[in-house]
This record gives sequence, C-alpha cells and structure tokens, in this order.
Amino acid sequence: MQTPESSASRPGLVSVEGVSMVDWILKTWGQIQDIQANPDDVLIATYPKAGTTWMQEIVDLILMDGDADKSKRAPVYLRIPFLEMFAHGDIPSGVETIMKMESPRIIKTHLPFQLMPKSFWELNCKAIVVARNPKDVAVSYFHFHRMNQAMPEPGPWDQFLQTFVNGQVSWGCSYEHALGWWEARKLHQILFIFYEDIKEDPRREILKVASFLGKVLDEIAVEKVVHHSQFAVMKDNPMANYSTLPSTIFNQAISKFMRKGEVGDWKNLFTVAQNEAFDEFNTRKLSGTDLRFREVL
Ligand code: A3P
Repeated sequence: MQTPESSASRPGLVSVEGVSMVDWILKTWGQIQDIQANPDDVLIATYPKAGTTWMQEIVDLILMDGDADKSKRAPVYLRIPFLEMFAHGDIPSGVETIMKMESPRIIKTHLPFQLMPKSFWELNCKAIVVARNPKDVAVSYFHFHRMNQAMPEPGPWDQFLQTFVNGQVSWGCSYEHALGWWEARKLHQILFIFYEDIKEDPRREILKVASFLGKVLDEIAVEKVVHHSQFAVMKDNPMANYSTLPSTIFNQAISKFMRKGEVGDWKNLFTVAQNEAFDEFNTRKLSGTDLRFREVL
C-alpha cells in the first residue's frame, strides 16, 4: 500500500561520471553541458539544502537595491533558474529559462565542480558557493526528500543517513562536493560563504556578497536586503517559499520548504551513536584538507 510519502512515481538515481544523480537530470544533461556562458553570468553553486534559496534571494535583493517589490516579480526558480531542472507542466526547464534570460544572468546549480559546463570557466564567470555543516544538511535533505516528489524515497532516517554518508544521494557526497568547490576557489572567481556565518551576521555576509558582485548599496538598501532575506519574511513570501510550485512536486503538507532555518537542528534526529560515527566520518573526509565547516553544537 502506498502512503502519501511513498509513491511509485518517485525517481531513481543514476551515476553520472561516478556521482549519484537523480535520474531526471539525464533529460537535459546534453543541453547542460553544451550551455554557452556569458562573461557576466554569476553562479550560485551549492550542495542541496546548504542555503541555496537564501543566497538566491540575497543576490536578487542586492541587484534590486533591496527593493522587495522588484524581487517579487516572479518565483525564485524563474528569476534565478536551476540549471539542472527538468520542465514540468508550464514551468520550463532550467536550460530553457536560462537561454531566454537577458544578462546579467544569475544561475543556480547543485553540480559538483568537476561536472560543471566548461564554458563558465572559459569566460571567467563568478560563482558564489554556500556550504553548511553536513549534519544539518543531512537532516534538511531528509525532510526535503520526504516532501519533494521529484526525489527518491528517503526511507526511515537511519537508512537515509547511511545513504547520505555513502554519497548515494542525488548530487553525491556532500564532502566531495564542498571540497571540489573549495579547491576550485583557488583558480576561479569563487566566493565561499558558510550558512552559519550568514545566520551569525547577515549584514556582514550580505556586504561580502555585494562587494563580490561589484555592487555598492547605500545603508537603507543594505537594511532592506537584511530584512527581506530573513527566514520569517521569506517564509511568508510566495515568490521565495516555493508555494507556487505544484504539490505534485513539492508536497508542503508533508514538510515546508522553508522548514526551520536553524543551526543545530541535527540534534533532533541524530542519535548519540550516529553523531559519534558521523564525527569520525567528518574527520576522515576532511583530513589532509584545509576545509573546516562551522561547528554546530
Ligand atoms: P531547513 O530544512 O534546515 O529549515 P536550499 O535552499 O539549499 O534547499 O536550503 C534550504 C534550507 O535553507 C532549509 O533548511 C531552509 O529552511 C533554509 N533557509 C531558507 N531560507 C532561509 C533563511 N532566510 N534563513 C535561514 N535559513 C533559510
């Protein structure tokens, strides 16, 4: 028997050059790889649940000088299209939306660095990467799998956590993903931001993003960006909270897209044993690297 959370229509995973990916990515894979970048394209590149939508809203508000009405011109997935997204009903694929956009284009992607279309680097495009502590990412990704009908069934938490650790989830291992972009920042115009740093001091991080984009904001505009990108404000904004997406994709009756927006929610799901094992895994994955996620105690 099928429960609301289990449906035969859920997709499976495929391996793309050794990285686990949700199977619908193959629908546009050729177009993704062939995409022609513009020199002023800006990428928002994240592992899922690291704070992508938050950064999308921050960047759009910065470019609109904090004018929330302008940022409400369309849902976030049309303002800042998702490169890998398939077409659904009257919502065009990410590639289709990108091709029709005027410069400067802001593009969201979850691709690991090594799978990115090369055109972006040939033209020296900028990218903003957001990374988040993997324990909170795992919990957020679990709830996202429950509600997102375009993702595989997560199964129970302990099973999902194991697949997350094994990198058998879409877009692969969160550590490999972060490390790929972390190394790439040494060669490309990449701003690396931590979710927990934005939580700690949104103004400071917003100013970093604005400066990276070459945008000068007056004090009033900065305050507006800070205000309109707050969790509670975005949660109530239909153009940011994905409520315009049909429930056949995001079933927000199961779990809201704007779910909690907190640091340390992992404590509500991880058992003591899972936490110890994860800490060991974390040490192993980061040894020999200089990447350190923010602690989330
Ligand atoms: P939780 O599930 O922990 O609540 P992404 O956009 O990469 O899919 O990430 C979604 C996560 O970012 C969700 O985390 C969501 O609540 C959180 N998020 C979105 N907007 C936020 C904001 N303004 N402040 C804090 N967290 C935010």
